[in-house]
Amino acid sequence: MAKHTKCNKLAVLTSGGDASGMNACIRAVVRFGLNNGFEMYGVKHGYTGLINDEVFPMEYSSVSNCVHNGGTILRTSRCPEFKERDVMLKGVNNLLKRGIENLIVIGGDGSFRGVQDMHEHSDLNVIGIPGTIDNDMGYTDYTIGFDTACNTVVDAIIKLRDTITSHGRIMIIEVMGRESGNIALNSAVAGGAEYVIVPEAPADVDEIAQSVKRGFEKGKTSTIILLAEGKNYLKDELMQKVADATNRRVNHIALSYMQRGGIPTMADRVLAARMAQRAVELVQCGQSGRVVGVRGGDIYDTTVSEALRLPKEFDERLYKLAITISK
Ligand code: ADP
Ligand code: F6P
Repeated sequence: MAKHTKCNKLAVLTSGGDASGMNACIRAVVRFGLNNGFEMYGVKHGYTGLINDEVFPMEYSSVSNCVHNGGTILRTSRCPEFKERDVMLKGVNNLLKRGIENLIVIGGDGSFRGVQDMHEHSDLNVIGIPGTIDNDMGYTDYTIGFDTACNTVVDAIIKLRDTITSHGRIMIIEVMGRESGNIALNSAVAGGAEYVIVPEAPADVDEIAQSVKRGFEKGKTSTIILLAEGKNYLKDELMQKVADATNRRVNHIALSYMQRGGIPTMADRVLAARMAQRAVELVQCGQSGRVVGVRGGDIYDTTVSEALRLPKEFDERLYKLAITISK
């Protein structure tokens, strides 16, 4: 839906959890926007900064030397009060009073709910770009930051494998992802973990414990179990039962915020730039309430309501493959 078509002022912000590649996206939004005749603005600290009027002009040099850095040069925030209509409108007015009628939001599904609210209940044109390590949005195959997070997990698997092989141990590696097992599943396949426990599939802890035992009996020298955040309530039971079954030490490590930061991969940087380009093009066409995604390698856009409605499909085939090739 188009609201305005003539305004050439465009702001950008990052919201929710930081994700590597956000800077590559900000850079591309700002430079592609400037090249296409927009006056560019940044909003610091996500929706919190929008409410607190932390709006500033951005030039070519504002985004110099950041494409390779993790985090977000615009900073970010969790801002629960943004769900309140009057608070949201106060933030929007901080842009409108400067004549800025366009906003690009880089964030996850929570941030997209803010995009939907602003689109439906204000005069702002708002476009969303998916930036979250979780890759938990059904309308897009990938979100910015997911690839880097998975590579961080794979790197950790390589390092941790050295120690547990040397000692003949079992390691439970807990990874992020909220209710999505995507980081766990993809990292397990790429890193050669023996087991992966995700929220989308049932897990039989007794069976896993017995299977780990059989593995050592057959000559395995180490075992890695990737445990997704959405199933981390199984951790204590899993540690106990695997230790009892194998009579070996079981270590646990939560990779936690290690997965959010660090140098973004090429895949995340390129995805970020391509998505930024489409987002600015949507603004150029006077669009609002749309979000950018990638499907089968192609960049596309859809409505934010559709994006929020579509559940993330679990890749059963990849899950079965992970099980088949890991033992
Ligand atoms: P992410 O965007 O990474 O999913 P959050 O879930 O924390 O991260 O959401 C980021 C921000 O988006 C929240 O702090 C809040 O400001 C805003 N937000 C979340 N849910 C809503 C909602 N239902 N309505 C409006 N804004 C929301
Ligand atoms: O959404 C990204 C994410 O890192 C999730 O994987 C995790 O559950 C959550 O954010 C952690 O949030 P916080 O930064 O508020 O601790």
